[in-house]
Amino acid sequence: MPVKNRFAELLPEITAWRRDFHEHPELLYDVHRTAGRVAELLASFGCDEVVEGIGRTGVVGVIRGKTDSAGRVVGLRADMDALPITEQTGAPYASKSPGKMHACGHDGHTAMLLGAAKYLAETRNFDGTAVVIFQPAEEGGGGGLAMVEDGLVDRFGIQEFYGMHNMPGMPVGSFAIKPGPMMAAADQFDITVTGKGGHAAKPHECIDTTLTAAQIIVAMQSVVSRNIDPLKNAVISVCVVSTDSTAHNVIPQVVKLKGTARSLDPGVRDQLEEGITRVATNIAAAMGAVAKVDYQRGYPVTMNDPQATDWAAEVAETISGGVKTDMEPMMGGEDFSYMLNERPGAYIWVGNGDTAMVHHPAYNFNDEAIPAGSSWYAGMIEARMPAA
Ligand code: NI
Repeated sequence: MPVKNRFAELLPEITAWRRDFHEHPELLYDVHRTAGRVAELLASFGCDEVVEGIGRTGVVGVIRGKTDSAGRVVGLRADMDALPITEQTGAPYASKSPGKMHACGHDGHTAMLLGAAKYLAETRNFDGTAVVIFQPAEEGGGGGLAMVEDGLVDRFGIQEFYGMHNMPGMPVGSFAIKPGPMMAAADQFDITVTGKGGHAAKPHECIDTTLTAAQIIVAMQSVVSRNIDPLKNAVISVCVVSTDSTAHNVIPQVVKLKGTARSLDPGVRDQLEEGITRVATNIAAAMGAVAKVDYQRGYPVTMNDPQATDWAAEVAETISGGVKTDMEPMMGGEDFSYMLNERPGAYIWVGNGDTAMVHHPAYNFNDEAIPAGSSWYAGMIEARMPAA
């Protein structure tokens, strides 16, 4: 595949961009320096359009191919934000912002997509339009959703989306992907159980909130074991139990439960929300208490389209060979899911080698993955919109 050679030549330049981003990490939507640098570079490559401020601080570049016979438009996405972690890599280009760090490799994703944009603007060896998308706030702020709500899909006419994330523990520059769910829907819930507090020696004059909460905790596990198809995946974990009592002999007025519910299937997700709410409110009612359930949906399931997954794997195969296509999904969340909910596409992992895991203070993106990652991004454009 010819892109590989060009990216070997571009490696020092792309690495320099990556390390500059690494040195200046920014959080959530507050990625002004990074977004400004991305826009400046896209313009210097000769992109046909560079649009800033989509989804607050997102940046989009448009690169038109030599021809456009069928009006095809393919979107490539990278994330730009860092994490509130104090860096411990000891790298010469370590974070200059105390308490902030590129600990998930989004510096690498942004640099690899910039490299692909530079190559695509140079060669334009495709029939259609490439849209390169740089999103803010992947780490909890829903920047992908903000860009979608800001009209990303219709404004640029995007028909397919492709995204990538690095993965420690996989050989550097290797690829892994699977059809269907790649990452989980990650939701959280707060349950407030209200009864009638009082003296622990006079339970008959109280409505016991702790006993009610305990029965809710136990009964909620029946949603996973009895309501959900045993061949599907779900997990409910109650992680916090707190009351307004600090005494051994006072039945509390209120007990609060907090937890997380994760799933890999939109139908299962609906069942979790419905089941947790049904069990909590009705167990409480049976005990004479009241349970209020606040179920908050986080990022949806990251769902790879089966056909797009095949295309993504074929391109990856030409770059590194031996692409893993039978990996297990992860129960973490990813907000590229909002783009994949709008149009078909796929999300792939690129190996980061034997490094610390993402979100660890010793993690660092592996620059040796750049030629493979940039080649895959650019390769998706040339494969999905072959030159006429
Ligand atoms: Ni990440």
